[in-house]
Amino acid sequence: MKRIGILTAGGDTPAINATIHGAVVRANELKVEIIGLIKGFNSLFNSRVPHVRLNPLFQAIPELDPTVGGTIIGASRDYINPEEHEKIKDICGRLRRLKIEGLICVGGDGTLNGMQPLSEFLPVVLAPKTIDNDLGLNYRIEPEEWQRKPGEKGSGHIYHRIPAETQFDPEQMINYVTPGFATAVFVSAGGIQRVRTTAESHRRIAIIEVMGRHSGFIALGTAYGQPDVILVPESAVDVDLLVERIKQFYELQKNVVIVCGEGIVDKQGNELGVEKASTDPSGNIILSGAAEALRRVLIERIGDKYFRDLRRGETAREVIFTRKVGHSQRGGRPLQFDRFYAGLLGSKAVDLLVEGRNNDVATLQWNHQKGFYVDHFEGNGFRDLWGHIHARRLHPSFYDQHQMKLSHTGIDYLIRIFNDAIGADDTESIRKTLFTSGNLLQPYHSLNTDMSKRIRFLDQEL
Ligand code: F6P
Repeated sequence: MKRIGILTAGGDTPAINATIHGAVVRANELKVEIIGLIKGFNSLFNSRVPHVRLNPLFQAIPELDPTVGGTIIGASRDYINPEEHEKIKDICGRLRRLKIEGLICVGGDGTLNGMQPLSEFLPVVLAPKTIDNDLGLNYRIEPEEWQRKPGEKGSGHIYHRIPAETQFDPEQMINYVTPGFATAVFVSAGGIQRVRTTAESHRRIAIIEVMGRHSGFIALGTAYGQPDVILVPESAVDVDLLVERIKQFYELQKNVVIVCGEGIVDKQGNELGVEKASTDPSGNIILSGAAEALRRVLIERIGDKYFRDLRRGETAREVIFTRKVGHSQRGGRPLQFDRFYAGLLGSKAVDLLVEGRNNDVATLQWNHQKGFYVDHFEGNGFRDLWGHIHARRLHPSFYDQHQMKLSHTGIDYLIRIFNDAIGADDTESIRKTLFTSGNLLQPYHSLNTDMSKRIRFLDQEL
């Protein structure tokens, strides 16, 4: 294999450049050219296929820095629809004209679904990336536990899981953890610690929303910031129990910190944070968010009198506040753990292609004997009986529903990732790079500006 394409699809993470870098380093050793496709699958929909050479003369371009978050080749949420045969044929023709013999997609479960149709025409492998940590399986047969029925009015299908009956065994996990997750937890847990001091000082109840869609891994990881309550999307919110727990904490310590994953659901399975039908003055739909929805429920259930009687505020509205950690948990410099394993996974993806594999996924495994190690798993193994790939959700044994906190299994899971996640250079970089006079004197220099100068198009290829 002489020339490989690489694209980065879906939401960015702090560790994508580290994955691309790992792929380029390995490709240099093997004397393989790597072409970066601009803005994920979007590049392939464009007849001119914007792209950059990432290793001219088998040297990484200087813009490719594994310590910089995001992706220098851009990302988008465009995916290939397997039904659109003509489009797929066009895409393959373009890749052939670019002399690309194999493709690495850096992405999550959506990307894996998207790359599948392409794998019938050229070798494609996935290097995992997601802060949500939802690409993977808790155990091999998990995809077979999905059931589906037709949606209302013929609109697609509704999927649901039969309850898992497995004992959790970390060695059985496929893709134990994905680069990007550790840095997202680092930012979120730190945010929770910081909000605590305000909650303490002002006798307030903080609800902090973290990302993760329908998976509660990030919420679980915020346990490092010692919130009093963690709510994860996998366990329906029991409002009675929640109010009871909040009151216990509030009466004891005069403040409560609650973390909620953005996809939390009520007992009927409705997501608390979905779009509300209300509109703002200009007619736009207001996106309320899970934390805000939970706040409304708590304001109503706990009531003003409770806080007045305790002399801690006039209204529940005044005491209970919300914050989202937001996109800062998805950006910035990746921690050592993410950088190191992202690089190995990128390198593994190149090896998989060179070994002649197709529709395969580089994975990060863990076992007692070896600790973390890189392996691979066939893409088809992630599919359910109808071919769909689902986001991984927390195994029930990770979470204690009654305590509303992580369980001992959850603790063991996190410790393996986070014990040595922060490198000495991570702390040193904070000391050296933020309060430097250069930041005050010079404007931000965008990497996109440099990368634009390198972009080429299919019709310009020699
Ligand atoms: O999948 C990654 C993720 O950060 C989710 O946790 C979150 O729901 C979503 O992407 C946010 O996407 P966007 O940046 O497009 O708003």
